[in-house]
Amino acid sequence: MRIGVLGAMPEEVSSITTLLTRPTPRHLGGREFIGGRLASHDICVVHSRIGKVAAAAAAVELIARLGVEQIVFVGVAGGLAPQICTGDIVVADRLAQHDLDASPLFPPLEIPLTGRTHLPTDPAIRACLRAAAERFLAEEGSVLTPHQAPSRPPRVHTGEVATGDQFIGNAAARDRVRALLPGALCVEMEGAAVAQVCDEYAVPCGVARLISDDADDHAAQHFSRSLEQAAGLCAAGIIRRYIEWL
Ligand code: ADE
Repeated sequence: MRIGVLGAMPEEVSSITTLLTRPTPRHLGGREFIGGRLASHDICVVHSRIGKVAAAAAAVELIARLGVEQIVFVGVAGGLAPQICTGDIVVADRLAQHDLDASPLFPPLEIPLTGRTHLPTDPAIRACLRAAAERFLAEEGSVLTPHQAPSRPPRVHTGEVATGDQFIGNAAARDRVRALLPGALCVEMEGAAVAQVCDEYAVPCGVARLISDDADDHAAQHFSRSLEQAAGLCAAGIIRRYIEWL
């Protein structure tokens, strides 16, 4: 199978490209796409950069020019729900854009002219990502730094994810996202854009997020620490197991 793997940060993507045999770069639309083999699959890994437009553009290239048959996004996110702790992993079952509001033309959160607020991930990809994340935590969870493994061992959750072109780093911003999407487990900046592109092209997708921070006043500091110490290992640990089990 031909699989596209997306990450927003260089730390996440470079750890995944080290898994590939015969990595071969290709430049399209200002991005480097690295093709290679892993466990008898053709993989194409791309550093999208941060945000919805960047992620959507990278997803379109993966599908329309590089012919991937599915897309998996891996990265970090800020925790929103009370049961979510830093060091946990969230596998998205559906995603919505918390910053999408074309009211009064359309209801807040609705993707104009589609009648939809949420887009689902693929159930089979989701189940396999969850199993890969659980195995990663069991076998390598100790790589997560102290601030990421506070009161209990890290867990994997499946649920709703909020996406928007904002880094959420204070209580007011976090509460605004919580009020708009009360069921969301975490917040990030790309997932719903990738899910929308995949939906439009009928390509199955999955999204897995390591919780780097609590979307509060310490979020920027914890985000940076997580990127340095854990995000790359987690991204590669999940993707390696996911692709080996396909
Ligand atoms: N990705 C990781 N942490 C985040 C946060 N607090 N807000 C938005 N995206 C994030």
